[in-house]
Amino acid sequence: MRIVKTIAEVRNQVKAWREQGLTIGLVPTMGYLHEGHASLIEASHRDNDKTIVSDFVNPMQFAPTEDLASYPRDLELDSKIVEEYGGDLIFNPEPEEMYHKNFSSFVDMTVLTQELCGLSRPTHFRGVCTVVTKLFHIVKPDRAYFGKKDAQQLAVIRHMVDDLNIDIEIIGCPIVREPDGLAKSSRNIYLSESERKSALILSKSIFLGMDMIKKGETDCNIIIQAMKKLIHTEEFAKIDYVKIVDCETMQQIEKIDRPALCAIAVYIGKTRLIDNFFTEDI
Ligand code: PAJ
Repeated sequence: MRIVKTIAEVRNQVKAWREQGLTIGLVPTMGYLHEGHASLIEASHRDNDKTIVSDFVNPMQFAPTEDLASYPRDLELDSKIVEEYGGDLIFNPEPEEMYHKNFSSFVDMTVLTQELCGLSRPTHFRGVCTVVTKLFHIVKPDRAYFGKKDAQQLAVIRHMVDDLNIDIEIIGCPIVREPDGLAKSSRNIYLSESERKSALILSKSIFLGMDMIKKGETDCNIIIQAMKKLIHTEEFAKIDYVKIVDCETMQQIEKIDRPALCAIAVYIGKTRLIDNFFTEDI
């Protein structure tokens, strides 16, 4: 397993692998890897001859008020996980390698990004689409792996690949959770011991919503109100949103009468956490 810092080194390695006729999977990450990321690396290792993991805290997707400076970084930990789960190369560029000083081209989307996380983070998806497009051009993988944990991001990437005729298969992977239900996230490290307990309210409300739909409830408002009521029982929790949207358009719906996504964002103290479920996965 190699760690490289430059685009040129990635391209050389990819060229050598291509000359041997090998297939390549890409797992884009911001590092501080956990079992959620590991599941994507494992899936890529299963499907492809070689797996490249990008490990880059992308400044462009953070608003000035967000946690870019404090976002956790640990390349040593990351390299152990990549090695263990069958990754072959880590691409860990400095910001200047990805964004030279005259950088001025962006990939943006006018649909899908106005709802959910796009509402509270208006420039976020422009940063995600731009960096993912760059990674796609640098690596030119056969397949790229994204978690359903970031459900809107997955939908945005699928849409972008379709709009821009990018010839890469996008694979969506299930959410990996802690044994008590909390969705794994690099940001869980921010939680104090008491906040960690409070954070369970996210997965509890997700499981409640799933259960209501399983039992036949189709009125989105009733489901959302029940989930909100449960979240409000936790004193450290402040709701950003609890919404049910059409899977394709990310627009809110009234009834569960088509494939839907139920997504939530909740502040636990200062930490903003997200969780979700797709009705198709119930
Ligand atoms: P990051 O938050 O590091 O996540 C990298 C990938 O891991 C994403 O596709 C995310 O959905 C997936 N992931 C995170 N937690 C997961 C979990 N508990 N279960 C399953 N998958 C999980 O998402 C980003 O980085 C960035 O926006 C990126 C796409 C790398 C662009 O900068």
